[in-house]
Amino acid sequence: MEDRYYMEHALRLASAGAGHVTPNPLVGAVLVRNGQVIGEGWHARYGGPHAEQAAIDHALQQGNDPRGATLYCTLEPCSFTAPDKHNPPCTTAIRTHGIRTVVLAIVDPNPRVRGSGIAQLKQAGIEVRTGVCARKAVRQNEAYILSREQRRPYIVLKWAQSLDGCMATGSHDSKWISSPSAREEAHHLRGRLDAVMVGSGTAAHDDPQLTVRTANNRYPQPLRVVVSRHGNLRKDSHLVTQADTIPTRLYCTGISPDQQSRLTAAGIQVIPVEPDSESLPSLHQVMQHLYDDGIQSILVEGGARLHASLLRQGLYDRITAFTEPVFLGDGLRPTDNLHPATVAAAPRLLDSEFHRFGSTISISGLHPDAARLLHDLIPDKEASCSPV
Ligand SMILES: NC(=O)c1ccc[n+]([C@@H]2O[C@H](COP(=O)([O-])OP(=O)(O)OC[C@H]3O[C@@H](n4cnc5c(N)ncnc54)[C@H](OP(=O)(O)O)[C@@H]3O)[C@@H](O)[C@H]2O)c1
Repeated sequence: MEDRYYMEHALRLASAGAGHVTPNPLVGAVLVRNGQVIGEGWHARYGGPHAEQAAIDHALQQGNDPRGATLYCTLEPCSFTAPDKHNPPCTTAIRTHGIRTVVLAIVDPNPRVRGSGIAQLKQAGIEVRTGVCARKAVRQNEAYILSREQRRPYIVLKWAQSLDGCMATGSHDSKWISSPSAREEAHHLRGRLDAVMVGSGTAAHDDPQLTVRTANNRYPQPLRVVVSRHGNLRKDSHLVTQADTIPTRLYCTGISPDQQSRLTAAGIQVIPVEPDSESLPSLHQVMQHLYDDGIQSILVEGGARLHASLLRQGLYDRITAFTEPVFLGDGLRPTDNLHPATVAAAPRLLDSEFHRFGSTISISGLHPDAARLLHDLIPDKEASCSPV
């Protein structure tokens, strides 16, 4: 019970790094002695101190000696040095400051750690307990875990839909299907991921900005990504006119030299990729290029045809559909090209979550492959937290 209480606190601290630590994980840490929190910290920015060190530093600044304390940490402490790593091993800091017990949520799936942090601590005579609030810790670090495991960005498909599954009317109107608070939540989703993507149809019909616009925004702007064979973007669109200040990228297959120089001059990075079997830009190649360029996570915001391609190719980890009790009838659906013969054969999301935003219900779930990879990190008998 006590372990869960302090781990929940460490998880809350970890979430403050959202949007700032990629490609590192979100990590929070709390130092406790005699039932008192004597230090706390989190990984606040990429290259900055790790959560464990931040908690130790915080304790020392308060005049608290960490010797003999228990450290609650949402992820296994790192155990290695490398030329590309900014911080010394946290296992060394834990040992040298005389911490007696370490309680962890999950093992770090990074192959350079994966259990070696725990082994080093045990070798030093430190008691280690694992698996506390593991499910919640895994949920918090889905992007970190799944992008590493699959060597591509963590892909979230997000759309707003009517009760009959439409993303827009037949005449392409979609403003607005969901409630204002659902749309505010969508901006938080953008802020927590590295990139946001749309197809050229959405760029043309909606002229989106694809920026994070939350109250007191604390997130950096994600990379804006558009896919279009010939780079069909209007020169007065937000994507083009804001490209000199907000990183914007186009993936295309056959752009004319004129259009390419016009978009490049506006500040858009134009990247040619191979066509797929339908002569559209290969989304596998797009995702690979993004991953190789350091993009760990991407939110795909439509429209219907782009979502349909990704659904058909199974190229997603999580789908979040904001569902509103309105009927659009003969509208655009992302699922029109799916034809399962039976309910049993239909694609089904796992580990579903439901949240309410005013009149909108968001339904979110995992691709079965993603769920399996995440479940591997959750011990059978989890000392669980409150539901996420
Ligand atoms: N409710 C919501 O959450 C939501 C969100 C976004 C959009 N919408 C609505 O959705 C509608 C737009 O959807 P849409 O289906 O017409 O367009 P879309 O999915 O945004 O864009 C499709 C276009 O993207 C390009 N594309 C490039 N590579 C692709 C690939 N591999 N797979 C699929 N498309 C690729 C193609 O055009 P090129 O010829 O340029 O290559 C394709 O025609 C609008 O009405 C908008 O309001 C709704």
